[in-house]
Amino acid sequence: MATEETGGVELSEAQIAVHWREEEYYHPTNKVIAGANASDPAILERFAEENFPDCFREYAELLSWDQYWHTTLDTSHAPFWKWFVGGKLNASYNCVDRHLVDKANKAALIWVPEPLDEPTQAITYRELYRRVNEYAVMLRDFCGVKFGDRVTLHMPMVPELPAIMLACARLGAIHSEVFGGFSGTACGDRIADAGSKLLITIDGYYRAGQLIDHKVKADEAIEVAKKHGQTVERVMVFRRHQGRYLSETPMVDGRDFFVDDVMPQYRGQTVAPLSVPAETPLFLMYSSGTTGRPKGAQHCHGGYLAYAAGTTKFYLDVHPDDTYWCFADIGWITGHSYIVYGPLALGTTSVMYEGAPTWPDAARPWQIAERLGVNIFHTAPTTIRMLRKLGPDEPAKYDYHFKVMCTVGEPIEPEVWRWYYNSVGKKEASIADTWWLTETGGHIGATLPGLQPMKPGSCGPGALGIYPVLLDEDGNVVPRGSGVAGNICIRNPWPGTLQTVWGDDERFLSTYYRRYNRNPDSQDWHDWPFLCGDGAVESADGYFRILGRIDDVINVAGHRLGTKELESAALTVEEVAEAAAVPVRDELRGRVVELYVALKPGYSASKRIEDGVVEAIEREIGKVARPKNVWIVPDMPKTRSGKIMRRVITGISNFSDVGDTSTLANPEVVEEVRQQVQTAKRERGEVPVEAGEGS
Ligand code: PRX
Repeated sequence: MATEETGGVELSEAQIAVHWREEEYYHPTNKVIAGANASDPAILERFAEENFPDCFREYAELLSWDQYWHTTLDTSHAPFWKWFVGGKLNASYNCVDRHLVDKANKAALIWVPEPLDEPTQAITYRELYRRVNEYAVMLRDFCGVKFGDRVTLHMPMVPELPAIMLACARLGAIHSEVFGGFSGTACGDRIADAGSKLLITIDGYYRAGQLIDHKVKADEAIEVAKKHGQTVERVMVFRRHQGRYLSETPMVDGRDFFVDDVMPQYRGQTVAPLSVPAETPLFLMYSSGTTGRPKGAQHCHGGYLAYAAGTTKFYLDVHPDDTYWCFADIGWITGHSYIVYGPLALGTTSVMYEGAPTWPDAARPWQIAERLGVNIFHTAPTTIRMLRKLGPDEPAKYDYHFKVMCTVGEPIEPEVWRWYYNSVGKKEASIADTWWLTETGGHIGATLPGLQPMKPGSCGPGALGIYPVLLDEDGNVVPRGSGVAGNICIRNPWPGTLQTVWGDDERFLSTYYRRYNRNPDSQDWHDWPFLCGDGAVESADGYFRILGRIDDVINVAGHRLGTKELESAALTVEEVAEAAAVPVRDELRGRVVELYVALKPGYSASKRIEDGVVEAIEREIGKVARPKNVWIVPDMPKTRSGKIMRRVITGISNFSDVGDTSTLANPEVVEEVRQQVQTAKRERGEVPVEAGEGS
């Protein structure tokens, strides 16, 4: 919906934040300030625009370089920025080897399995070094992995995942981890796009008290990749319990191997970390965009790692002796940057939890925090909402003390923020509401926990060395404090930014840069604002409220789902002629998906077709994308040119204004669909609180 209030930016009703009121500041406690990595305002000066790009040397100097760089930022091939050019290093060395000198016996990872009767595992830096080396030898000698090869991982939250990522990095191979909850089909698409010949997976894992068969997805993935012309030659299968195979699917002779069967021959072997130029790709992370095909954001050893380490140090306030728990999944960028690369580069202890936040009940996170002495806690609004709903009084019963808490992935409602602050943080902890994207590698908007006041619902100002700006449709700057929304862009390059979209430079240019580029031949970074894809409002104090995606992306519980991907999945159902996916406000998950479908002539609506659509989405994408409702409608509201008006059905699903319908080709259908959907929703008790009677 483009209104005066949103400054003409196309925002759907559901994307408009529920909090427009200016919130009051919360200040960090003296204790947090006293212990913080950033408490002196001089840091803001050091990262001020006049010191760009050299300010980022401070991040790069957190790493160990085999060869120092000669050029901090090379803009000659804009906007394919190169950071720390001439520098050589290895991410695996930086996260593991270099800590052996003084931290060999310190826990690098503490892994908490979901089942209560399984013991927690502490993996020291020495032990991690052994595992990473042995896996690297296995990858090289058993799987034939070489420098630059892509290796697809489809792994849940087990400690083998970070170890195998670091093993790939050691060889200069590029890992591409696919979120474990994604389907075999989604994994197969990503294998094909990356051109991987090797898949690393596991037989099963625990989630919400269930043992999930995971290997079955590998077989599907390989079939799908093959259809796209990509042959997977080898599948390495970890076993959740050594020596015991949990999956129902048979191992394929000559293709599938158990990791624990082949590992004994590599016991104690090591491989030197390959010293690579800073801009060597480290991994791909696929995310959804405007078109159906997910895009592989390419991140590198030098700039990315420096940025992950720097932001971990200053925004999560991680010190080596902290016990830090990021309650995200390594299958997403948050886990890459803030469970694995950032914390391990700084030599801290990073906690990993296998399962669901509320298993067996809503006290689990606080029990873990108490038991392990976690002092930095990191999670997403969807988890906070869920824990608040199921166990609002649980945190007070446990003796833990956080100094910093992070929230990431979607806007947090001020009311939820306050519960997080008062109850979870016990009024002692600073909250860092970190706004960023898969593509940015690390935080781009947040407050420094020991220096900048917090404001519920706002992420804060641009992160150190990041200069955001709101632009309107014509590229004019939307003034600070005007209350008008704009497209939030970053004016400058930064080391964590994606290098390109894997195999598709054109898509990289068109997605992030074409919109506001002033001159395609320019080598001056000032001409290349980076389009983040979010709508935002900037308060007079320079704090940003992120309103949500402006493209066809639905952010469900902090996970990005492309409407096109969802609709394509629905269209695989025989009877479906048209499909439209819309975001619907949800108390716990922030947003959920509802699908509207119209059937081909000759078919009539049935529960079977609805179920078929749900199944298709789970099969093509994964359970994470499961729609809340499937509405089989007689027709879609359409423009005269035949475009489905998502704004209208989004309004219907959210009981909000559907906007002007006079220009539709079939305005009469709006009322019919509204009756159908809203009556059913009332019966199901799905009326939002703010939608009054008769709305
Ligand atoms: O809309 C923004 C939202 O999540 C999107 C990026 O999703 P993804 O690439 O999956 O990365 C998520 C983890 C970094 C953004 O475009 N988002 C992320 N963090 C916040 C947020 N929205 C509001 N506040 C945040 N702190």
